[in-house]
Amino acid sequence: MKLTIGVKLFITYFVITSAIVWFVTDKVSLRVTKGIDEAAEDVMVDTANLLAQVAGENIIDGHINTDKMHNLVDSYLNRELNAKIYSVTKNNPNLQVYITNKNGIVIYDSTGIRKGKDYSLWNDVYDTLRGRYGKRSSAIDPSIKNPSPEQKAMYVSAPIYHNKEIFGVLTTIKPTADLKPYIMEQKKHIEEYAIYLFLVSLLFGAGASFVVSRGTGKLVKYTTALSKGENAVAPKIRQVEFSELARAIEKLRVDLEGREYVEEYINTMAHELRTPITGIKATAENLLMPMSSAQREHFVNNILDANKRMDMLVNRLLNLSRIERRDQLENIEKIDVKTLIKDVVQSPSRKGNITRRGINVQYTIERKFTIKAEKLLVEQALANIVDNAIDFTPINSIIGIKVSESNTHVIIQVYDQGKGVPEHARKQIFRRFFSSSRPDTGKRGNGLGLRFVKKIMNLHNGTVSLKNRFMEDGAVATLKFPIK
Ligand SMILES: Nc1ncnc2c1ncn2[C@@H]1O[C@H](COP(=O)(O)OP(=O)(O)OP(=O)(O)O)[C@@H](O)[C@H]1O
Ligand SMILES: [Mg+2]
Repeated sequence: MKLTIGVKLFITYFVITSAIVWFVTDKVSLRVTKGIDEAAEDVMVDTANLLAQVAGENIIDGHINTDKMHNLVDSYLNRELNAKIYSVTKNNPNLQVYITNKNGIVIYDSTGIRKGKDYSLWNDVYDTLRGRYGKRSSAIDPSIKNPSPEQKAMYVSAPIYHNKEIFGVLTTIKPTADLKPYIMEQKKHIEEYAIYLFLVSLLFGAGASFVVSRGTGKLVKYTTALSKGENAVAPKIRQVEFSELARAIEKLRVDLEGREYVEEYINTMAHELRTPITGIKATAENLLMPMSSAQREHFVNNILDANKRMDMLVNRLLNLSRIERRDQLENIEKIDVKTLIKDVVQSPSRKGNITRRGINVQYTIERKFTIKAEKLLVEQALANIVDNAIDFTPINSIIGIKVSESNTHVIIQVYDQGKGVPEHARKQIFRRFFSSSRPDTGKRGNGLGLRFVKKIMNLHNGTVSLKNRFMEDGAVATLKFPIK
């Protein structure tokens, strides 16, 4: 299975976010632990000094009155507390205290177990006796060799003065385990925040990945459709880069198609122009021979005919290529359909053809219809289908032009009495350069007319269709213009 760019992005995002959140949480927890330890130490320094002061006051005859110290500490330890410190409740005082003489021998211990021991080499006692700040962190129970963090305690000492000299050391002891509830409490909060942070950023990550994969998905669909030759519309994407890419692809497509058109146009032009050019050459060669003036006139007319044909072809191609490149209308105006039809049918060249072939044009226009359109273009569209009808209907027959309206469209229909569109041609009639020979002259057109009509109708959001008439000879061409 291949991962899409969106999924890959999301996975990367997920990994990075988890790593950052984990790292920060870990570091913050460490700092919180340290901060709580430091705050506790501060309080212990104060307590130790206060008690050392009390001990100093109780020196009688060069001895500390340990009995008095014992009573003091004992009644302190037996106090019942009910201190609610945020979410932790403290029930008993649990500070331990020991006192050494100036040789570092323990002369008083609140637990009793340390009494008589030589503590002169423990950091707390050692440093304090030398006038420095003394503290240590070691096992709460001296018999434990390798204590775990929970089995440790903080020892903070203060000097006991007598006659301005250091007389002994008082050490306060706080088990690390006592601080644990506070640390756990803070860690719990930090972890909660971390989870929220993680979820929120994950949500953003998912959103970003979704936007990216939606953009790429649209582009892929678009380009796939293009490569299949389907008539795909460039996707609308909000992401700047993607929408620029889509626009670039669209431009490329238009350019390429344009090039294809130009090539095709040039090819047919060359091909179509060859016939009149050869004709002109042959006729001109004939003209070099001696001949009667009637003959000469005939040949000159031939040349003029060929010239006219070339001129027409060039004009139509230019027109078509111009309109193929347009993607919107320019001069939209309100057009009366009846006037439009009359103008087209009665234009001099068309009128000539109609009369010459004895065609009777019948109109069915019951009331006034108007469309919004670009006049020159709809005239050309209508002219093309009327010309087809004139070309394909037999002499002395009828061409009908009917205008009607549905809920949504104004409909112009042009029908004739010819043979209609043969089965094999049905799919080709809207292709460029498809043309069949006219029944009475045997000549072909350029095969550009309906293509032109289709393009014009597209520009007007309308449609064109050409079908055989129902139960009758002939074809019917239908133009539909939207009403709105
Ligand atoms: N009224 C009709 N009756 C029968 N066939 C038709 C009719 N109108 C169009 N066709 C078919 O559709 C083809 C394409 O029409 P189109 O107008 O595009 O080209 P054309 O008339 O052959 O050439 P041009 O219009 O460029 O001079 C025609 O050649 C013909 O085969
Ligand atoms: Mg035509």
